[in-house]
Amino acid sequence: MISGLRADAFVESPGSASRLTVRKAVMHDIAPILHLINSYAARGIMLARTEFEMSEAIRDFSVVTLDGQLLGSGALHFYSPTTAEIRSLAVHEHAKTKGVGRKLVEALVAEADQYELDAVFAFTYVVDFFNRVGFHVVERGTLPLKAWKDCVRCPKFQACDEVAVLRILRPDHWSEAEPQPWGPLMTSPTDELIQIPTPRQV
Ligand SMILES: CC(C)(COP(=O)(O)OP(=O)(O)OC[C@H]1O[C@@H](n2cnc3c(N)ncnc32)[C@H](O)[C@@H]1OP(=O)(O)O)[C@@H](O)C(=O)NCCC(=O)NCCS
Repeated sequence: MISGLRADAFVESPGSASRLTVRKAVMHDIAPILHLINSYAARGIMLARTEFEMSEAIRDFSVVTLDGQLLGSGALHFYSPTTAEIRSLAVHEHAKTKGVGRKLVEALVAEADQYELDAVFAFTYVVDFFNRVGFHVVERGTLPLKAWKDCVRCPKFQACDEVAVLRILRPDHWSEAEPQPWGPLMTSPTDELIQIPTPRQV
């Protein structure tokens, strides 16, 4: 339990959505973000994070708070001079469907825009949510190979059922590359050998 965070912390009231604050994460957010992410990881919905990883990556994160209490968090992780991944996106169970996820995505997209990125992508089980916030489904092979590095330690590595989604920010700059062949082992000019997950058989 995050200190001071009660299950009814998000009380829907007139104007509560407008009191949502979005800001970059700071060090004291690490514990509540870890609690949030790892509670979903325990249910197999997200990849677990450690305090060390969070400390390394804290500059990637933004948070949404209401009256100082953290309701959700998400990260923008760069992969190339033109692309980044939105990842570790999570909203507390009691605060879902109140616009917190959308606020986080919009903040991360605005950040991507400031960095002059051409597109942002995500791997997700909640495709409908991402469709609502401006993403579309893409062939996984169009995404940078490095994006798959985290997958090696995912429990679903041998039966991946996440869907790749993309939001193009600068259509005049973005060209969806030819999908790369799907296979267990791939190479790239910058990585000697990258393993990518096996899609779940349906
Ligand atoms: C996915 C998640 C981040 C969405 O956050 P949220 O705060 O509930 O989303 P919002 O209230 O901002 O919803 C924005 C829109 O998406 C819709 N939406 C939200 N969750 C949805 C879902 N699971 N399925 C379909 N639509 C959904 C909302 O109805 C809303 O639609 P609108 O445009 O008509 O208003 C949240 O449910 C979550 O943390 N899930 C568990 C962790 C997870 O799966 N993270 C994604 C990792 S990639």
